[in-house]
Amino acid sequence: MSSVLTIRGGVPLTGRVTVRGAKNLVPKAMVAALLGNEPSVLRNVPEIKDVEVVTSLLQLHGVTVEKDPITGDLTLDPTNAKTASHTAIDAHAGDSRIPILLCGPLIHAIGEAFIPDLGGCKIGDRPIDYHLNVLRQFGAVVEKRPGGIHISAPGGLKGAKISLPYPSVGATEQVLLSATRAEGITELSGAATEPEIVDLIAVLQKMGAIISVQTDRTIRIEGVPDLGGYNHRALSDRNESASWASAALVTRGDIFVEGATQRDMMTFLNTYRKVGGGMDIGDDGIRFYHKGGKLNPLVLETDVHPGFMTDWQQPLIVALTQAEGVSIVHETVYENRFGFTDALIRMGANIQVHRECLGSVPCRFGQRNFLHSAVISGPAQLTGTDIDVPDLRGGFSHLIAALAASGTSRVTGIDIINRGYERFTEKLAGLGADFDITSAE
Ligand code: EPZ
Repeated sequence: MSSVLTIRGGVPLTGRVTVRGAKNLVPKAMVAALLGNEPSVLRNVPEIKDVEVVTSLLQLHGVTVEKDPITGDLTLDPTNAKTASHTAIDAHAGDSRIPILLCGPLIHAIGEAFIPDLGGCKIGDRPIDYHLNVLRQFGAVVEKRPGGIHISAPGGLKGAKISLPYPSVGATEQVLLSATRAEGITELSGAATEPEIVDLIAVLQKMGAIISVQTDRTIRIEGVPDLGGYNHRALSDRNESASWASAALVTRGDIFVEGATQRDMMTFLNTYRKVGGGMDIGDDGIRFYHKGGKLNPLVLETDVHPGFMTDWQQPLIVALTQAEGVSIVHETVYENRFGFTDALIRMGANIQVHRECLGSVPCRFGQRNFLHSAVISGPAQLTGTDIDVPDLRGGFSHLIAALAASGTSRVTGIDIINRGYERFTEKLAGLGADFDITSAE
């Protein structure tokens, strides 16, 4: 049954939240366990929908997944991996994009994989061409079948020299999860190097993989025949941490985010400081707060790591609606990630989106009819309204806008937010938010 949030705005969020393992690492580390010949243990695992989806997909394929009732740690045992029925896979894949990353590990484990047509947040076309090209370069046979794609590799996967046209996080993970047990050496140029990628490499190295990241975004993997298990504590979710930081600015509040890690958020922290946000950086987390004065507008361009993450821009844009002046955000990673601004405009925000690349460098989406630059003028008084959540980060942005707005907002479709924000309604309540949850009639 879907839920509805009725939010009464105008209450600053103050208090403490705990952020646990990164949504964009934990499901990948779970898939990596399939490559091992013994059980693995994953710690700091959040209770989010994406973990549930991957748990059921792995169980479908014969992997036992046990969750410690106290800590939430997962023990994954891949020793009885087996094929699964296509209909069952499709039924369990949900709107996750993770199934595509099962290809390499399943081919190594059982010789084949079936991937249903994928979901994922509606922030662009979300193609998988890079993934399929990578698998073909490893020697896999990729066949389009009704409802999805069948991949097999009769002679096993062979190391390859691969160059990505764009530093895709998913395609880099596809290479890592396929190459570690492939025969021979793989050299990947144009790789993504996000902290979540480096944490996945740490997981694979614990299993026995030989992987090096060079200075020019090249990753070199020496294939090994067998891998063992791992015992790993997932890095914390920098995207959730950045979301709570923006929430503190938007609601003029003060939030200590336990688990926020300076090392993984350096670019965000610089931007947060330039907007006028306050921060105290500690060893166990970061305090983010509104200093009481005005917020500053800025010109921002999203990019791959170590640039400003695309996943950070949506909540921050809500803060920019409160800045005194004109801000510009040029989204260069996804072609259609400003749909969430429609609801903000209905609430009173002054935002225009444009087809032009309003940034320092023309990006892949320039002159291709994608509304991928935004101009935000502030400060704007936000007023509560009815909102239907469009995607994960946009949905969180709508929540914090409603929390800052005057009046009441009725927010539907909030189940999407469970995909990446652990126990978010409990956290909001703990921070003093004024809202009710009811089931949609
Ligand atoms: C991961 O998505 C994250 N999701 C995204 O987080 C994140 O925004 C993104 O990386 C970039 O950092 C997970 O890890 C589950 P990409 P991914 O492949 O791997 C294009 C969130 O809110 N592309 O780096 O799917 C693609 O369309 C989510 O937590 C192809 O063209 O991202 C996009 O324009 C949102 N063909 C660009 O590359 C392909 O085969 C970057 O995508 C694959 C990607």
